[in-house]
Amino acid sequence: MAQARAFVQAVRSAIGTPRRLLDLGSGGGIPGLVAAAALPETHCTLLDGRDERARLLLAYVQRLGWDDRVDVVAARAEVAAHGELRGQYDAVLARGFGAPAVTAECGAPFLRPGGVLVVSDPPEGAGGRWPLEGLSRLGLAPFPLPPQAWALSAFQLVTPLEDRYPRRVGVPGKRPLF
Ligand SMILES: C[S@@+](CC[C@H](N)C(=O)[O-])C[C@H]1O[C@@H](n2cnc3c(N)ncnc32)[C@H](O)[C@@H]1O
Repeated sequence: MAQARAFVQAVRSAIGTPRRLLDLGSGGGIPGLVAAAALPETHCTLLDGRDERARLLLAYVQRLGWDDRVDVVAARAEVAAHGELRGQYDAVLARGFGAPAVTAECGAPFLRPGGVLVVSDPPEGAGGRWPLEGLSRLGLAPFPLPPQAWALSAFQLVTPLEDRYPRRVGVPGKRPLF
């Protein structure tokens, strides 16, 4: 919970209150449901590629009465990012989604220009996980966050992303860009 709140603080410090936010690989709803609770003005999308996770997320959303402002999408990011959700989000959150290159390739395409991707790092910190050259292939640049207790990194979409990203399902993991 505290880590999920740190995601929200990171987004707020980067861009203020987002109009639209996506939780990439939402799983049991962390950090997406915590963000939805903390940001009542924000339209949130909880995306997960596993149907059973999405069904459970939808049940939580309905029980909380948030259906009008929280969507649940059961889809692989590599597919959904080429559809109507592409370029629609001010903020994308990713906790435990995958390796850095996979998270960046699957997350960046959902951002609008200037939007931020906020990602969890291991407790020891980001280290060399996010090489500038790899990030720039995806239009991303590091976005410095204020010091905090949780290891998080943030990246801003600063240049347009090529249409071919993300690549086909599974390819970001099999042939990582960095
Ligand atoms: C380790 S879980 C983390 C869940 C949650 N964010 C958390 O921190 O508790 C990763 C989640 O990402 C989802 N996922 C992994 N790769 C995906 C992809 N390419 N597209 C959509 N969902 C994906 C999995 O189904 C899983 O629910």
